[in-house]
Amino acid sequence: SNPVIVAIDGPSGTGKSSTSKAVAAKLGLSYLDTGAQYRAMTWWMLSNGVDVNDSAAVATAAEKPVIVSGADPAAPTITVDGVDASGPIRTQEVTAAVSAVSAVPEVRTRLVGLQRDAAAGAPGGIVVEGRDIGTTVLPDATVKIFLTASAEARAARRGGELKATGGAQVDLVATREALVRRDAADSGRKTSPLAKADDAIEVDTSELTLDQVIECVVTLIEEKR
Ligand code: C5P
Repeated sequence: SNPVIVAIDGPSGTGKSSTSKAVAAKLGLSYLDTGAQYRAMTWWMLSNGVDVNDSAAVATAAEKPVIVSGADPAAPTITVDGVDASGPIRTQEVTAAVSAVSAVPEVRTRLVGLQRDAAAGAPGGIVVEGRDIGTTVLPDATVKIFLTASAEARAARRGGELKATGGAQVDLVATREALVRRDAADSGRKTSPLAKADDAIEVDTSELTLDQVIECVVTLIEEKR
């Protein structure tokens, strides 16, 4: 059978990453976190003194960083100019700047190229997660999933993640506000905004456990394969 290409999109805090990695591991597929690539690009800009609010400067710099993603869902990696960036791309500084960087068309063109290469180069198939995978990056994907959840559920999950990764005091109200702001920016930008593709299957994860979401997505893929 043809390699299965799975596009998983949705706003932050819907369980996209956990679901995508688990589904890829279960089905023996490669995995690509496109959000990590936008974060890596943003980290490079911040580290190299590029003003992230100067879209012309960001556009010019967009071709410079060498960004390489590992495809193993059990141990996803990302390097920027050969340096492991998995830690630095998760800082609040990067999170706060990433929507501005990802709205720049030159950034998107560059990263979408990497993303299409990754999908074409995954012989057994791949799970690609992001915001515009089903609409723009891989419009011919075998299966398109759009994950949603209430703002409360998303803030609670993101708060839990931040706590787990070392944050002592997590302000849920601030977390919720930052999430809502980032999703509004991602949904409102001109170039390939966060959107559900017409042929994507929407799964509301608010009331589901992670295991239930994984099972649901695996079933949807098996029906199409
Ligand atoms: O998925 P994650 O929250 O790590 O994504 C970080 C940011 O990268 C998003 O808020 C969005 O601005 C950008 N992004 C994007 N297109 C994608 C994936 C992520 O614009 N396909």
